[in-house]
Amino acid sequence: MISRRSPLANCVLGFITGIAVTLLSLDLYFYNATPLTTSLIMAMELGHDSRVDHTEPEDAELRVEMQKNVRILCWIMTTPYNTDKKAIHVNATWAPRCNQYIFFSANESSGLPSVKLNISDGRNYLWWKTKEAFKYLYENELDNYDYFLKADDDTYVIVENLRLMLMPYSPKDPLYFGCRFKPFTKQGYMSGGAGYILSREALKRFVEDGLSDPKKCKAGNTGNEDSEMGKCMYKIGVKAVDTRDSRGRHRMLPFSPNTHVPSKGAPPKWFHQYMYYPYDQGDGCCSNYMVSFHYVGPNQMQALDYIIYRLRLFGSYHEHFQNYGIKGASIFTRAKNFAMSYSHLSDPDDPKPASA
Ligand SMILES: *[C@@H]1O[C@H](CO)[C@@H](O)[C@H](O)[C@H]1NC(C)=O
Ligand SMILES: *[C@@H]1O[C@H](CO)[C@@H](O)[C@H](O)[C@H]1NC(C)=O
Ligand SMILES: *[C@@H]1O[C@H](CO)[C@@H](O)[C@H](O)[C@H]1NC(C)=O
Repeated sequence: MISRRSPLANCVLGFITGIAVTLLSLDLYFYNATPLTTSLIMAMELGHDSRVDHTEPEDAELRVEMQKNVRILCWIMTTPYNTDKKAIHVNATWAPRCNQYIFFSANESSGLPSVKLNISDGRNYLWWKTKEAFKYLYENELDNYDYFLKADDDTYVIVENLRLMLMPYSPKDPLYFGCRFKPFTKQGYMSGGAGYILSREALKRFVEDGLSDPKKCKAGNTGNEDSEMGKCMYKIGVKAVDTRDSRGRHRMLPFSPNTHVPSKGAPPKWFHQYMYYPYDQGDGCCSNYMVSFHYVGPNQMQALDYIIYRLRLFGSYHEHFQNYGIKGASIFTRAKNFAMSYSHLSDPDDPKPASA
């Protein structure tokens, strides 16, 4: 892209980028893919933030590349009642790290980025709400993003690791990512609480092929959100992806770290029966590049955010990608090589990364 710009534009761009990288290197809290000028203002404002920590310029470069190349719109299922109790904590922690985020349907006076749907709120209507939310995204945002994440207001998502998980794949393929459960279809379905992701092509099919045909996707308003979604995805040919890491550890899970990580106090029995892939309670539960947990209340959400983004281990080293590409390969190429090597690809029926 840069080669198509004029030399002057390149020079100006280089200069601005230089400043940005310098500022960003002081700032751990830059995640939005906002226009550059806004980013600069944000970075400068955050420069005075007590939470600011040192990070390498290369980290900032990688972050920008990832935001540009793996564009994610996150939508969070909430209600007017839960807006102040839960949604504002999602807004204060992980959601702004997505390229864009929308709450369906928060209290309109809250000031959160929210879309009101013309439907009744209530547990019985979650399937209806899900269909309407994805329809809204199809009509308004389809071409602006590569992937569309649905999460609950008590889901915690590590957005950088989500991009790592998605980057080997192509949004032009019909794909569906999440914590994979066994029942209802041959390929199972994705747990609602751990959050799930539709590729652009999957969203397109969902609305164009699925919602128009009640034989493929359940018509009407009632129904269990995540299982209906799974049946629908299966019937319209959207492939469920194995989201585990190369060592078979899960990256998306439907309970909190308190439930998955300790060696005792395992999740309920149904969970073990539902899991599509083997699951090890305790040390083996979770990937080092974990993507999501569920049943994370406001306090734990703030605590997790602190632990992941601010807490430092003195004497540790930071992971780099030197060994994942020929000398001189761009930072994004090296990251992509790493992402592919980190995916779980043992099953020959699995959807394949776009450029393996
Ligand atoms: C929505 O927010 C306004 C302003 O904070 C508040 O007065 C109102 O009670 C809220 N509505 C609900 C349903 O929580
Ligand atoms: C939502 O988060 C943004 C920062 O990302 C903040 O500026 C805004 O005040 C938050 N909104 C509410 C209602 O907490
Ligand atoms: C909302 O839904 C009702 C009933 O389904 C319909 O009569 C009404 O026109 C809808 N309003 C909007 C703004 O779409």
